Amino acid sequence: MIEDLWYKNTVIYSLDVETFMDANGDGIGDFEGLMRRLDYLDSIGVDTIWLAPFYPSPNRDNGYDISDYFGVDSRHGSNGDFVEFIRQANERGIKVIIDLVVNHTSDRHLWFQEARADESAPHRGWYIWSKKRPPAWNKGMVFPGVQNATWTRDPQAKSYYYHRFYKFQPDLNMDNPAVRTEVRRVMGYWLQLGVAGFRVDAVPFVIETPHAGKKSVQHFEYLEEFRKFLQWRCGDAILLGEANVMPNENKKYFGPEGDGIHMMFNFYVNQHLFYALASEDIEPLADALSATRALPPTAQWAQFLRNHDELDLGRLTKTQRDKVFEKFGPEPRMQLYERGIRRRLAPMLGNRPQLELAYSLLFALPGTPVLRYGDEIGMGDDLSLKERDAVRTPMPWSNDPQAGFTTCARPIRPVLHKGPFGYEAVNVAAQRRDPDSFLNWMAGMIRLRKECPEIGWGEWTRVKTGAPGVLGLRYDWRGNGLVVLHNFCAQPKEVRVQLKEERGAILTNLRANDESRAGEDGQHRIALEAYGYRWYRVGRLDHLLGRRKA
Ligand code: NOJ
Repeated sequence: MIEDLWYKNTVIYSLDVETFMDANGDGIGDFEGLMRRLDYLDSIGVDTIWLAPFYPSPNRDNGYDISDYFGVDSRHGSNGDFVEFIRQANERGIKVIIDLVVNHTSDRHLWFQEARADESAPHRGWYIWSKKRPPAWNKGMVFPGVQNATWTRDPQAKSYYYHRFYKFQPDLNMDNPAVRTEVRRVMGYWLQLGVAGFRVDAVPFVIETPHAGKKSVQHFEYLEEFRKFLQWRCGDAILLGEANVMPNENKKYFGPEGDGIHMMFNFYVNQHLFYALASEDIEPLADALSATRALPPTAQWAQFLRNHDELDLGRLTKTQRDKVFEKFGPEPRMQLYERGIRRRLAPMLGNRPQLELAYSLLFALPGTPVLRYGDEIGMGDDLSLKERDAVRTPMPWSNDPQAGFTTCARPIRPVLHKGPFGYEAVNVAAQRRDPDSFLNWMAGMIRLRKECPEIGWGEWTRVKTGAPGVLGLRYDWRGNGLVVLHNFCAQPKEVRVQLKEERGAILTNLRANDESRAGEDGQHRIALEAYGYRWYRVGRLDHLLGRRKA
C-alpha cells in the first residue's frame, strides 16, 4: 500500500539532545529533558524526530566524531534513557531517526587506536593508509580555511591516513567487507532499540574510498546492501541520505529500481530557493524543481531551509552565490568555508512576511519538510561562536535565566541573550500564549501540510501565474487538487491562474474564509500581498452546481 510509506507525509524535526533541554542541571541537554518536551513537539504536529549524534564522542565536531557506536554519551544519559525516550516518543505517534555516521570515526575510537599502534592489528585495514604522502594530500577538503589537508601523517603509525573531514576524523575503509559488516551491526543494534531509520551522514564519501595511487570508484551497491539489511530487519525503516550532489546523480543514490536510499535532502532546490528569496527571480528554482522531479515510486525528497551546518551555496553560479551573500550574509563573519552562510533563517531574512513565505513554501514543496529546532519560533544565531556553532545555541524555552534550557550558570553553549533574538524576546513560553506568534502560525502550517497528503503522494505541475516572481504549483492525487501560490517579491502582485478544469473551478482558500471563482475568460484573478502566499483546494464547479441542484 502506498499509504504505508509513512515518510512521504511526515514532518521531521531535527534536534541535538545537547542543546535541547537539560533536566539534571549540568548545563548539557539530556534524554530526560528531551522526554519532558515530547508533549510540546507532539502539540505542534511533529511526528518524526531526527536526532543529531548522541554517541560517546570527544565532541570536537558536535558529536560527528564518534568513539563508540553502541553507546549514549553519559552527558546525555544512558542507553536505558534512550530506550525510555523511544518508548515515550512512540506512545505519542512520534518516530525517531538517528544519525548514522560511518564515513569516519573519531581518532579516539579504539579501532583507530589499535590500527595506528600496530601494522598487523585487525583494525589496521579498517582505515586508509599510505606510507608516502599522496600527491593529493591537500585536495578535497570539506572545510576549506579550517582544514589544511586530507592526508595527515600519524607519527605512531608512521603512515599517512585519509580524512575527508577534520584530521581527528579518520575515514573508514568502506571497501573492506568487515567494515560494512560492522555498519550493519550498528544499524541492527539501534533498530532493535526502536529507531525508525537513519540519516546517513556524508553519503557520497561513504561510497567512495580514495586509496592512494588508485583511481577511486563509487560503490552504489553498498547503499543497496545497507538498504536490504535495513528492510530485512525492519520493513518500514528508512535511510535519509545527506548527499549534496548534482541532479543527474540522484538516480544512482535512490537506486534505479528504488533500491538505494529512500530519501535525500534536496540541497539543489535548497540553494536555488535561497537565490529566489534573495533575487525575486524564481526561474532557477522552478528549473531546480524540474531537474529533481523524477524519482522511483518509493523515493522521496527531504526539503529543508536551514540545518545544523552552514547554508551551502556551492551549487549556484558565482553570480547567483554573490547575490545570496550580498543579501543574506554580507559580512565576512557571516560566511564560512568559502561557500556558505552560518546564520539562522530569521535573522537572515529579518522580516516576518518573508519568513512566513519561506516556511509556507517549504511545506508546499514536493517532498517531506524538515524543520530545525528553534525554527518554529524564529530563533536567532550567535556569530561570536566558532564556525557552525553560531546556529547551534540552546533552545530558548522561556524568559527564565538561561532561557529555561538549564538551571546551570554555564550552559554548554551560551544562550542567545539580549537584542531582538535574545531569549527575553524569542522564547517558546511567550509564543505559546500569543495567538499571533510565529509558533502558532507554524503549528497551523504543520496541520495544513498534514491535511494535504497530495503533496506527499501526488504529482506536481507548475501553474502559470502571469506574474514574474510568483511561483504556482499544483498537486493532484486521487481526484484531489491543490494549488499553492508564493509571491517572492517585496511588492504586491496580481496573478492570473487558468486551471485545466472545464468551466473553471472554485479555489477554496485553506487558510481563510474565502474562495476564488474564474472570470468569464476562465481565469482566476488573485491579489497577493508582498511576500503573500495562498493554499487552495481545487473544487470542480460542475460538481458543486450539481450538488446545489439536487
Ligand atoms: C556532515 C554533518 O552534517 C556535519 O555537521 C559534519 O561536520 C560532517 N558531516 C562530518 O561528519
